[in-house]
Amino acid sequence: MFLLFVLMIVMVFQSGCSSTNHYKILSFFFDGVPDPSAGDLQKGDSIKAVDTTSFAQNAVNRPVDMTHLHPPYKDKQCSTCHDQGSMGKLRVAQPGLCYQCHDDFANRFKVLHGPVGGGQCTMCHSPHMSVNEAFAIRTGQDLCLHCHETDQVMANESHRDIGDTGCTKCHNPHGGNDNNLLR
Ligand code: HEC
Ligand code: HEC
Ligand code: HEC
Ligand code: HEC
Ligand code: HEC
Repeated sequence: MFLLFVLMIVMVFQSGCSSTNHYKILSFFFDGVPDPSAGDLQKGDSIKAVDTTSFAQNAVNRPVDMTHLHPPYKDKQCSTCHDQGSMGKLRVAQPGLCYQCHDDFANRFKVLHGPVGGGQCTMCHSPHMSVNEAFAIRTGQDLCLHCHETDQVMANESHRDIGDTGCTKCHNPHGGNDNNLLR
């Protein structure tokens, strides 16, 4: 896992900033996040084919509200994340972009959640602002069921009685001690 992670960083740095390259890398890691202990590929089936190419492309459904402002955005430190010469470009790819200031989740958890290892922080967080806590772009189960198939999730015994309890009541969104990412 760690090696993969390093490989990813290296690939991201080598790839420059073209969005096609970016997409290839993300989809490689998205489809390919390996689960060494499982030995089967069925799990991949429960993940929807969502567009993970860019935060901007998901903008339509994004709440635009100033209720919670991410400090570096509020303080106009745009250039810690954006290339000053071209605002369209990010200085570093995610998750490195975020780990400039936040602790690497790989140091906190034995197993990383797919999109965390794959650097898709902005599939859950707005880098700028949100009406929601933790700058989340969706709330409750929607945050998770955006990628996970409802039927597949509900087929698991452990979920039979959850009703509309938020998934993060039991799961850590970033990682855990094993694949179930339980708190
Ligand atoms: C913490 C890092 C970070 C900071 C600070 C930041 N941005 Fe961004 N910004 C991003 C990311 C990540 C994206 C999404 C890029 C993509 O499409 O993948 C983005 C996207 C954008 C976009 C594209 C449209 C959109 O909203 O999706 C604009 C415009 C933008 N930022 C402007 C700014 C400005 C102006 C500032 C400073 C006031 C700023 N950003 C500060 C990370 C940041
Ligand atoms: C320039 C430094 C900087 C960068 C880069 C940065 N952050 Fe932050 N972020 C902060 C600060 C400062 C806070 C407020 C203090 C704290 O909670 O750590 C914060 C808070 C947050 C919080 C809310 C914490 C809470 O408890 O509500 C989230 C979520 C977050 N950042 C996500 C991200 C993501 C995702 C990225 C990358 C796209 C990112 N940050 C990049 C500085 C940064
Ligand atoms: C699957 C959705 C999801 C993804 C992907 C995700 N986060 Fe989070 N994050 C959350 C939620 C939900 C919270 C609110 C606190 C909680 O439930 O633990 C949070 C909280 C945080 C916080 C504040 C609390 C803490 O645990 O430190 C930071 C900082 C943060 N996220 C950064 C990131 C970064 C950086 C990435 C990418 C490497 C990322 N997140 C990816 C959902 C996500
Ligand atoms: C951006 C898409 C995305 C979002 C949003 C997302 N996940 Fe995931 N999740 C994945 C991917 C990709 C995997 C790895 C799949 C695999 O190993 O087959 C995964 C794996 C998991 C696993 C481990 C399953 C296993 O058997 O390895 C759990 C548990 C999980 N996610 C829970 C959540 C929860 C809870 C949320 C909401 C806080 C959430 N996910 C949101 C994409 C997502
Ligand atoms: C009441 C606590 C609880 C809640 C709420 C919960 N889970 Fe779980 N989840 C579990 C437990 C316990 C396991 C381990 C089950 C096992 O060992 O098979 C699990 C396993 C998983 C797995 C991996 C196994 C599988 O079925 O693929 C995924 C993915 C998952 N949960 C997603 C979710 C999502 C998405 C939500 C929100 C809609 C959610 N969970 C809400 C307790 C919970």
